[in-house]
Amino acid sequence: MNNLTEELKAHPGLSDIYGEASADVEAAADPESLEAVRVKHLGRKSPLLQLLRSIPKLPAEEKPVAGRLGNQVRAALEQALLTRKQELEESQLRERLAAEQVDITLPGEPFPRGHLHLITQTLWEIEDIFIGLGYRIAEGPEVETDYYNFTALNTPEGHPARSSHDTFFIEGHPDVLLRTHTSPVQIRVMEQEDPPVYIIAPGRVYRRDSDATHTPMFHQLEGLAVDENITMADLKGTLEVFVKSMFGAEREIRMRPHFFPFTEPSVEIDVSCMICEGSGCRACKHIGWLEILGAGMVDPNVFGFVDYDTDRVQGFAFGMGIERIAMLKHRMTDLRMFFDNDLRFIKQF
Ligand code: PHE
Repeated sequence: MNNLTEELKAHPGLSDIYGEASADVEAAADPESLEAVRVKHLGRKSPLLQLLRSIPKLPAEEKPVAGRLGNQVRAALEQALLTRKQELEESQLRERLAAEQVDITLPGEPFPRGHLHLITQTLWEIEDIFIGLGYRIAEGPEVETDYYNFTALNTPEGHPARSSHDTFFIEGHPDVLLRTHTSPVQIRVMEQEDPPVYIIAPGRVYRRDSDATHTPMFHQLEGLAVDENITMADLKGTLEVFVKSMFGAEREIRMRPHFFPFTEPSVEIDVSCMICEGSGCRACKHIGWLEILGAGMVDPNVFGFVDYDTDRVQGFAFGMGIERIAMLKHRMTDLRMFFDNDLRFIKQF
């Protein structure tokens, strides 16, 4: 292009056109004014085009030079326009990107993050303790038969213990019910497996009962250990380990005689009150102890239902309410709060 400028010195008319047009191209500040520059200098009425059109009328010896230079100027200007157009588009894009910039490093709108319900947290905590002791998790159906829920648990028809369970029956199916406890899983496991058996069975259970300490659905965790030479000392030792892991090493347990149809002897296990440290308060009704679960040595009659050799094996079983454990641990007074789904309650845990 410098050569062109050099050569144009001998042709002031073309040189002026080229100089002016080049300056206008450089000066155009946006694509629209650049387009106006193109029309002005390369349009049909532009001095350059008029000049090119007049070449045929020039003297023969001037024609080739004028034609060549004129076309070179046109090509040079077209190239300059194209280059300028790209420059302008690029800078426009850069400006837009700068103006519309989004700071992706800003923290986003926080999305409310949930967590496990207190019942699940408590259940998992209990499961972890027993898994650590070598127990395995077993499950059974929530819709059960009379046989597994009562009969095979040494609770024959007409047994007074049945009426204390406030059972939901399935309409039209007198032998089908919502399980009132997790104990039927004991039978289902023993039917399938030979001793030794060390299982826990967590799950939902149902009773027709509703007040501050009862809901029609709640959760239990069953435990069953069957092996040779199992004694009540094993039961006590196991539950002591559980209670101390769950409520703290300072807690003591005690056994009180009780009755369950499927254990003999049967006990209720109390934990020393964690609120008054045993000296007596409202929570423990001034006794210093809180009831936490039922347990006992598996009644040989139960082994009879699953064909276990009662001369060879013994066992212990226990059953606890998850809600009750959670309430004691977190000093709650109303069981219904678990199921109200009030976030002000749920978020506290
Ligand atoms: N199934 C009993 C109940 O729901 C608890 C229990 C389980 C007691 C195992 C002894 C042994 O009340």
